[in-house]
Amino acid sequence: MLERLQKKWNVSGLRLVLIIAIFAIGGSLTGYAGKKLINLFNIEKGVLWVIVYILLITIIWPFAVLIVSLPFGQFSFFKNYILRIGVKLGVFSRESGVHSNETGPQLSTKDPQLTTHIAIFASGAGSNAQKIIDHFRHHSLIRISLIVCNKPGAGVLAIAGKENIPSILIDKEKFFRGDAYVPELKERGISFIVLAGFLWKIPSALTKAFPGKIINIHPALLPKYGGKGMYGRFVHEAVIAAGDKESGITIHYVDEIYDHGKIIFQDKCIVLPTDTPDTLAQKIHELEHKNFPAVIEKLLLK
Ligand code: GRF
Repeated sequence: MLERLQKKWNVSGLRLVLIIAIFAIGGSLTGYAGKKLINLFNIEKGVLWVIVYILLITIIWPFAVLIVSLPFGQFSFFKNYILRIGVKLGVFSRESGVHSNETGPQLSTKDPQLTTHIAIFASGAGSNAQKIIDHFRHHSLIRISLIVCNKPGAGVLAIAGKENIPSILIDKEKFFRGDAYVPELKERGISFIVLAGFLWKIPSALTKAFPGKIINIHPALLPKYGGKGMYGRFVHEAVIAAGDKESGITIHYVDEIYDHGKIIFQDKCIVLPTDTPDTLAQKIHELEHKNFPAVIEKLLLK
């Protein structure tokens, strides 16, 4: 349980202890404040109680943990935590991070410490990369900060140039037998990696440096049609040759085995007898474009 939290929040053991202590102290303070309020105004059980509880959870608790987090040096974690809950509940807009009521408090979320910086790894045209960039262009908490490509001249590099996103063209030797570009990624504050049509296997140096923080999209319903050599057109040809009535997309975590990590999301489409690898590829791309950015956002705001 603690290990899972540590992974989820990407914090050291000591920091996790501090965070749990802040939750406990903040919670106790909130309870104490609630009791005081109830006694002060002599509130009877009933509707007013419910109002006090709503007030406690929505206002007093966030304030309590933010204040307690200050002396522990964990303010940015809790600001981010509360902001994420706010975005999820629709209290803060995901574009600006400001209160949806324009006269309300203006919370600037352009603080780089509060932002999740994503690196997109791609080898091809980059239509998925483009959709992801579009989706997060004005996002307050998530930014596409780097494009990583292994193929000179790939369309995704032109997209990076047009979008003013830094890109790295990676070298095979350094990627597989060197440091796998971990220092470059860490220096740029990258904390999440999205593979969007990246054709090289991910070395263990990278999966170890980003445990549970690398996801991939595969153009079929895994575990079918996965593994080495199963990419792009080859997948669609195999699906049609097998006479399958449906295909789809799989978004999954990445481990050291091709197309193997835990499945996060799948969506299906019908394969008609008249479908060719090209028409099926088009259907799959539509599914990918519709779902991939939203799944990434959901995962990161979890
Ligand atoms: C996608 O179909 C994806 O599933 C696969 O590679 C393709 C990339 O397409 N892994 P694009 O470069 O994003 O257009």
